Amino acid sequence: MTKKLKKIGILTSGGDSPGMNCAIRSIVRTALSNQIEVVGIERGYLGILNKKFRKLDVASVGNILQRGGTILYTSRCPEFHEKETRKKAFEILQAEGIEGLIVIGGNGSFMGAWTLHQETQIPVIGIPGTIDNDISGTEYTIGFDTAVETAIGAVDKIRDTAEASDRTFLIEVMGANSSSIALKVGICTGAENVLLSTELVDYKKVAQDIRKGIKRGKRSSIIIVAEGKKPGRAYDISKKLLEDENIQSKVAILGHIQRGGSPVSNDRFFSGLMGIEAVNALVSGCENHAIVVRSGKVMVANLDECHDKADTVYADYIGVAESLSK
Ligand code: F6P
Repeated sequence: MTKKLKKIGILTSGGDSPGMNCAIRSIVRTALSNQIEVVGIERGYLGILNKKFRKLDVASVGNILQRGGTILYTSRCPEFHEKETRKKAFEILQAEGIEGLIVIGGNGSFMGAWTLHQETQIPVIGIPGTIDNDISGTEYTIGFDTAVETAIGAVDKIRDTAEASDRTFLIEVMGANSSSIALKVGICTGAENVLLSTELVDYKKVAQDIRKGIKRGKRSSIIIVAEGKKPGRAYDISKKLLEDENIQSKVAILGHIQRGGSPVSNDRFFSGLMGIEAVNALVSGCENHAIVVRSGKVMVANLDECHDKADTVYADYIGVAESLSK
């Protein structure tokens, strides 16, 4: 079934991620070539409520592909948890003539889109955009690879100085509920250990591993810490390592540097393909769907499968960093 659409809206929501601009560009160009008008909604769901709409033409998405952040800006919108707010948002979208919505964001943003559709039947399509790679139903989210590259570069630099001064470093990477960045960065930098976001730290074991390494001639130890619920968690772990195990360590928190920067090739490539697929999905009558990557292929999936948090993508690789660094 093909649907004749006149106007669609796009928004970016939650934590921004490198590659979101590529997705916006791809959506706009695909929609315009299908004679569909595109409205950019600023600052996520909040922009609907504040009527922050801007018409996106071909020129408006020129020269943005290589830029991090999002030209539509973003925000977290707790008000959208309220049914009344969603009703109001729907009425505003209707008044604006927006017949379908593409939401680029993480699982919270997907949940907002899913609920909006359940209550109002407005067609919604989600594109997974978060550096955390923690959305159920897809093995890839836009921004993950760039964040990992940024973190790898930083860890390599810290390794240089750690080696020069015989030091142990705890390096904290992002991931409030997810250890995907930590695991991939740990494997790619030869980290001696990766501490997962959900895990209670076994201080004895961490100390034992560090001592073993020193005994066999290692000059430095790098432990990657997933930030978990409390950013700055690495400071607590460092303190405890000193108090309980008499191990001195330095701490580096990589923080929001991981969210910025020019997207690497995978983030440009997948967001381009996902943007095309999202518009095609709307045109072919999809109403409650997400664009996902499965077995390396971009495809359409039911949004029901994709609005949960899932920290499973890299779960198979737990312990790999440690075993390779022995
Ligand atoms: O975008 C996801 C994420 O980067 C998490 O890893 C991190 O904990 C959180 O966002 C930080 O969000 P904010 O910038 O809103 O504090």
